Amino acid sequence: MTHTEIRKKFLDFFEKKGHTIVPSSSLLPDDPSVLFTTAGMQQFKPYYTGEADPMKDFGSLNTVSIQKSMRTSDIDEIGDESHLTFFEMLGNFSFGLKPNGSAKGGPSTLFKTSYFKKEAIEYAHKFITNEMGLTISHVSVFKGSSSTHSTKPQGGEPVESTSSGQATVPKDEESKKIWQSLGVSDIREEGMEDVFWGPTGNSGPCGPTTEIYCKNTQGQDVEIWNIVFNEFFCNGSREQLLSNKTKLTPLEKNGIDTGMGLERLVMIAQNTKSIFETALFSPILNLIPIEDTRIKRIITDHSRAIAFLITDGVRPSNKEQGYILRRLMRRVITYGQIHKMDLTIMHDIFAKIHEIYSPIYHDLDRNLIIHEFDNEKEKFEKTLKSGLKELAKIPVFDASGTFKIYESFGLPYEIIKELGGEKAKNLNREDFDKEFKKHQELSRAGIEKKFGGHGLLLDTGELKAADEQELKTVTKLHTATHMLQAALRKVLDGEVKQAGSDITAERLRFDFTFPRKMTNEEIKQVEDLINEAIKKDLPVTFKEMPLEEAQKSGALFFSKQKYPPVVKVYTVGPDPSTSSGPPFSRELCGGPHVTHTGEIGQFKIIREEAVSSGIRRVRAILKE
Ligand code: GLY
Repeated sequence: MTHTEIRKKFLDFFEKKGHTIVPSSSLLPDDPSVLFTTAGMQQFKPYYTGEADPMKDFGSLNTVSIQKSMRTSDIDEIGDESHLTFFEMLGNFSFGLKPNGSAKGGPSTLFKTSYFKKEAIEYAHKFITNEMGLTISHVSVFKGSSSTHSTKPQGGEPVESTSSGQATVPKDEESKKIWQSLGVSDIREEGMEDVFWGPTGNSGPCGPTTEIYCKNTQGQDVEIWNIVFNEFFCNGSREQLLSNKTKLTPLEKNGIDTGMGLERLVMIAQNTKSIFETALFSPILNLIPIEDTRIKRIITDHSRAIAFLITDGVRPSNKEQGYILRRLMRRVITYGQIHKMDLTIMHDIFAKIHEIYSPIYHDLDRNLIIHEFDNEKEKFEKTLKSGLKELAKIPVFDASGTFKIYESFGLPYEIIKELGGEKAKNLNREDFDKEFKKHQELSRAGIEKKFGGHGLLLDTGELKAADEQELKTVTKLHTATHMLQAALRKVLDGEVKQAGSDITAERLRFDFTFPRKMTNEEIKQVEDLINEAIKKDLPVTFKEMPLEEAQKSGALFFSKQKYPPVVKVYTVGPDPSTSSGPPFSRELCGGPHVTHTGEIGQFKIIREEAVSSGIRRVRAILKE
């Protein structure tokens, strides 16, 4: 059975049972509390809580989808038989809410009838055994747990509470009976960790689950389908839920959310030893001229994720989704380099991914994917060799040393861990992530580099700040300094060039080449230009590029400063590559900067004076 046949079978099966087919949503969800869409239910979250009306949006209380999903939690497992970053998830959903009186129903009453445990389990059983012709090896059901609940539910049945005020999520006897009635005898009881789904993100619907397992060719049980009974709303994250730090409240109406990994189902249906031998993967994997099976699998997995992330608009960067994409790309590039694989083979790999998936995902753009990959490759290859050399010199790998290698050379954690071998045996992802988070928090607050050993929170030479508050102020003044240079160049005749800059929490000081005193009129014009741009709340963005390219691009740079081989170019105002007009300012710079000029406040020049012959100095402040 091909993946195309399985897709069709699944959608048809549930459509006949009153489900509206809903296309996959993007890998980047609307929900800002999660980085990626990790399951089919992500796009349906508001339908469980009653915030959105399924009858109005889908003409049904039930939907079915095949959802593009991305999970980075399994990244260290990739290379085994069945784990992936990017995968597709088959799912059927039922929202349990009463149809809205005014909404038009579907073609049959089935569309207006939601369902719960009985139908959900019977449908899944029928699909696996009848439609797919597979045997269920065992199932799991929820064994019950004590967990903190609200004892005053907003809706639904009140939950039993213990004397301590805690309430229990009861054992799922009902599902057990349903499975037994269907002739499934191997029913295993599991707890919160394994058979309680959700919530995704900061809060959301969640509930106990029942999972279906089938045997692979080696006789091992593989989980293929997870059926979630959404009975609760959790006010916190899953992590908080598992550590009893948040409450569960029963939902007004029960809902069904199921997820079945397409790739795993294809593996079982095609009787292959691993997902990588299925027709979904082997045409990609076979293109990779490397002996090591694990690395071939990692490159295959990462290439698919790269292709789909780029298609959904992610670009490599140092933050959030872009950081994940960059890591995936760099891992592929590093393996390529270590195993002497000509990386132009990636063009064929992306072409193959396009060939397999473009009939389903029409927006996959092969050329765009190749272009973005090659771009990253070009940038990264410059530092990769030196990074590998540096790595070889380190005697023992700890988290902070490893993070420095990542930061200076961009080598991803996975590579450092792997290449470090014995020397990296005590290095773990958790510690590395902690270092990363620490760094991100600092850089979110505005710090890019150079932590002085003298009590200052930030000291880049140009910018100094003692605490978080000062950091905010100097960040604003820093962007204002870029705008000042741009405005001076617009207002004054002659070649205005930066001669120095110094920023404290009180003021900015900017020195520049100019032969005479500025007139009051000129000072006012400079202030007005800057304040108008502040009012427009222009975006402040940056791009990384090789130094030479940045200098050629017309961006301003300070001739006295030594820049690294790859630099950031900060732009205030629209990017010239996407807009017809020039930006307000473009400068090579390490940051930090505000994200929008509106954050700066009012700009005021308080002094203009001579420093030496031909060099002027301006001091300026910001007002709220
Ligand atoms: N939302 C159920 C699952 O992804 O397993």
